[in-house]
Amino acid sequence: MAALTADSETAVVVTDGELSHPGPTILYVNGAFERMTGYPSSELVGQTPRLLQGEKTSLATRRTLARALRDGKRLKVALINYRKSGEAYRCEVEVFPILNSDGVLVNAVALEREIRRRPGRRSTMREA
Ligand SMILES: Cc1cc2nc3c(=O)[nH]c(=O)nc-3n(C[C@H](O)[C@H](O)[C@H](O)COP(=O)(O)O)c2cc1C
Repeated sequence: MAALTADSETAVVVTDGELSHPGPTILYVNGAFERMTGYPSSELVGQTPRLLQGEKTSLATRRTLARALRDGKRLKVALINYRKSGEAYRCEVEVFPILNSDGVLVNAVALEREIRRRPGRRSTMREA
């Protein structure tokens, strides 16, 4: 995993398949994920991706994510995450559930990309 994604420009995060609180638990993040979020890997592993959420993170999007994970479906959403510094950023998150042969969720992988506004366009950051 580390060899595959360490140099990737895309932020990668891998969790276990435990969906009920306090899960899912982060097992691995790559360097791009550390740079985007401002958290070192040591502060993310063992935590939940919910630590990136804040007041502007849409509840509806969270529910959509929870449903897709529960159903074992792949999903791409745009949402608002927060860096360690507290700065909000718009992020495209594509979550891939990994099911075992019994259809049980064992891991989830997300590819995340910050969505930067084109110059000249005002950022509103209102909805996720
Ligand atoms: C691999 C993976 C990456 C995730 N990344 C994010 C993220 O960057 N931002 C976010 O708000 N939620 C993210 N989530 C979703 C939350 O962990 C959680 O599933 C979501 O908030 C819905 O569950 P809840 O309603 O129990 O909070 C991610 C989930 C997984 C499995």
